[in-house]
Amino acid sequence: MLNKIIAEKINKQVNFEFYSAYVYLDMSNYYADNNLNGFANWFKIQTQEERDHAMLFMDYLLNNSAKVELGDIKAPQAVYNDFRQPAAEAFEHELKVTEAIHDIYAAAYELKDFRTMQFLDWFVKEQNEEEKNTEDIIKRYDLFGHDAKGLYLLDSELATRVYTPPTLVI
Ligand code: FEO
Repeated sequence: MLNKIIAEKINKQVNFEFYSAYVYLDMSNYYADNNLNGFANWFKIQTQEERDHAMLFMDYLLNNSAKVELGDIKAPQAVYNDFRQPAAEAFEHELKVTEAIHDIYAAAYELKDFRTMQFLDWFVKEQNEEEKNTEDIIKRYDLFGHDAKGLYLLDSELATRVYTPPTLVI
């Protein structure tokens, strides 16, 4: 049986991950609107990953006899002024996701909830990748994105990203 505090935090994380999916879908749509279909592809796949994360947290609750309460998903508020901005905001968003996961981990550690700590290990590693991937887009954009040809090549590179399901099985 999961501790109530942990169950509540994980339930909150389910919503946060679905919200992340929504944020990235909004970014994907922005790029698609501007004919940067490679960027749009990258962010649409990111949406799928966030949905997977939400489902993993949800399944963990269900597998531990905790109730899932699905809440409203906040609409993304973003208005983007340039092509760099969504990537920069994605990186900032991932830092917040990392903080949220660390917060659950800290509570699990406090409560000696070793099962939850083990479950979260995958997410702790995954967040390292999530931060790096979004930061890489910003760095590459800063290097090549201001020139039309460079932007075209970067967009072509991001078009090659393919969806791979998570390696974590609950
Ligand atoms: Fe689910 Fe991008 O963290």
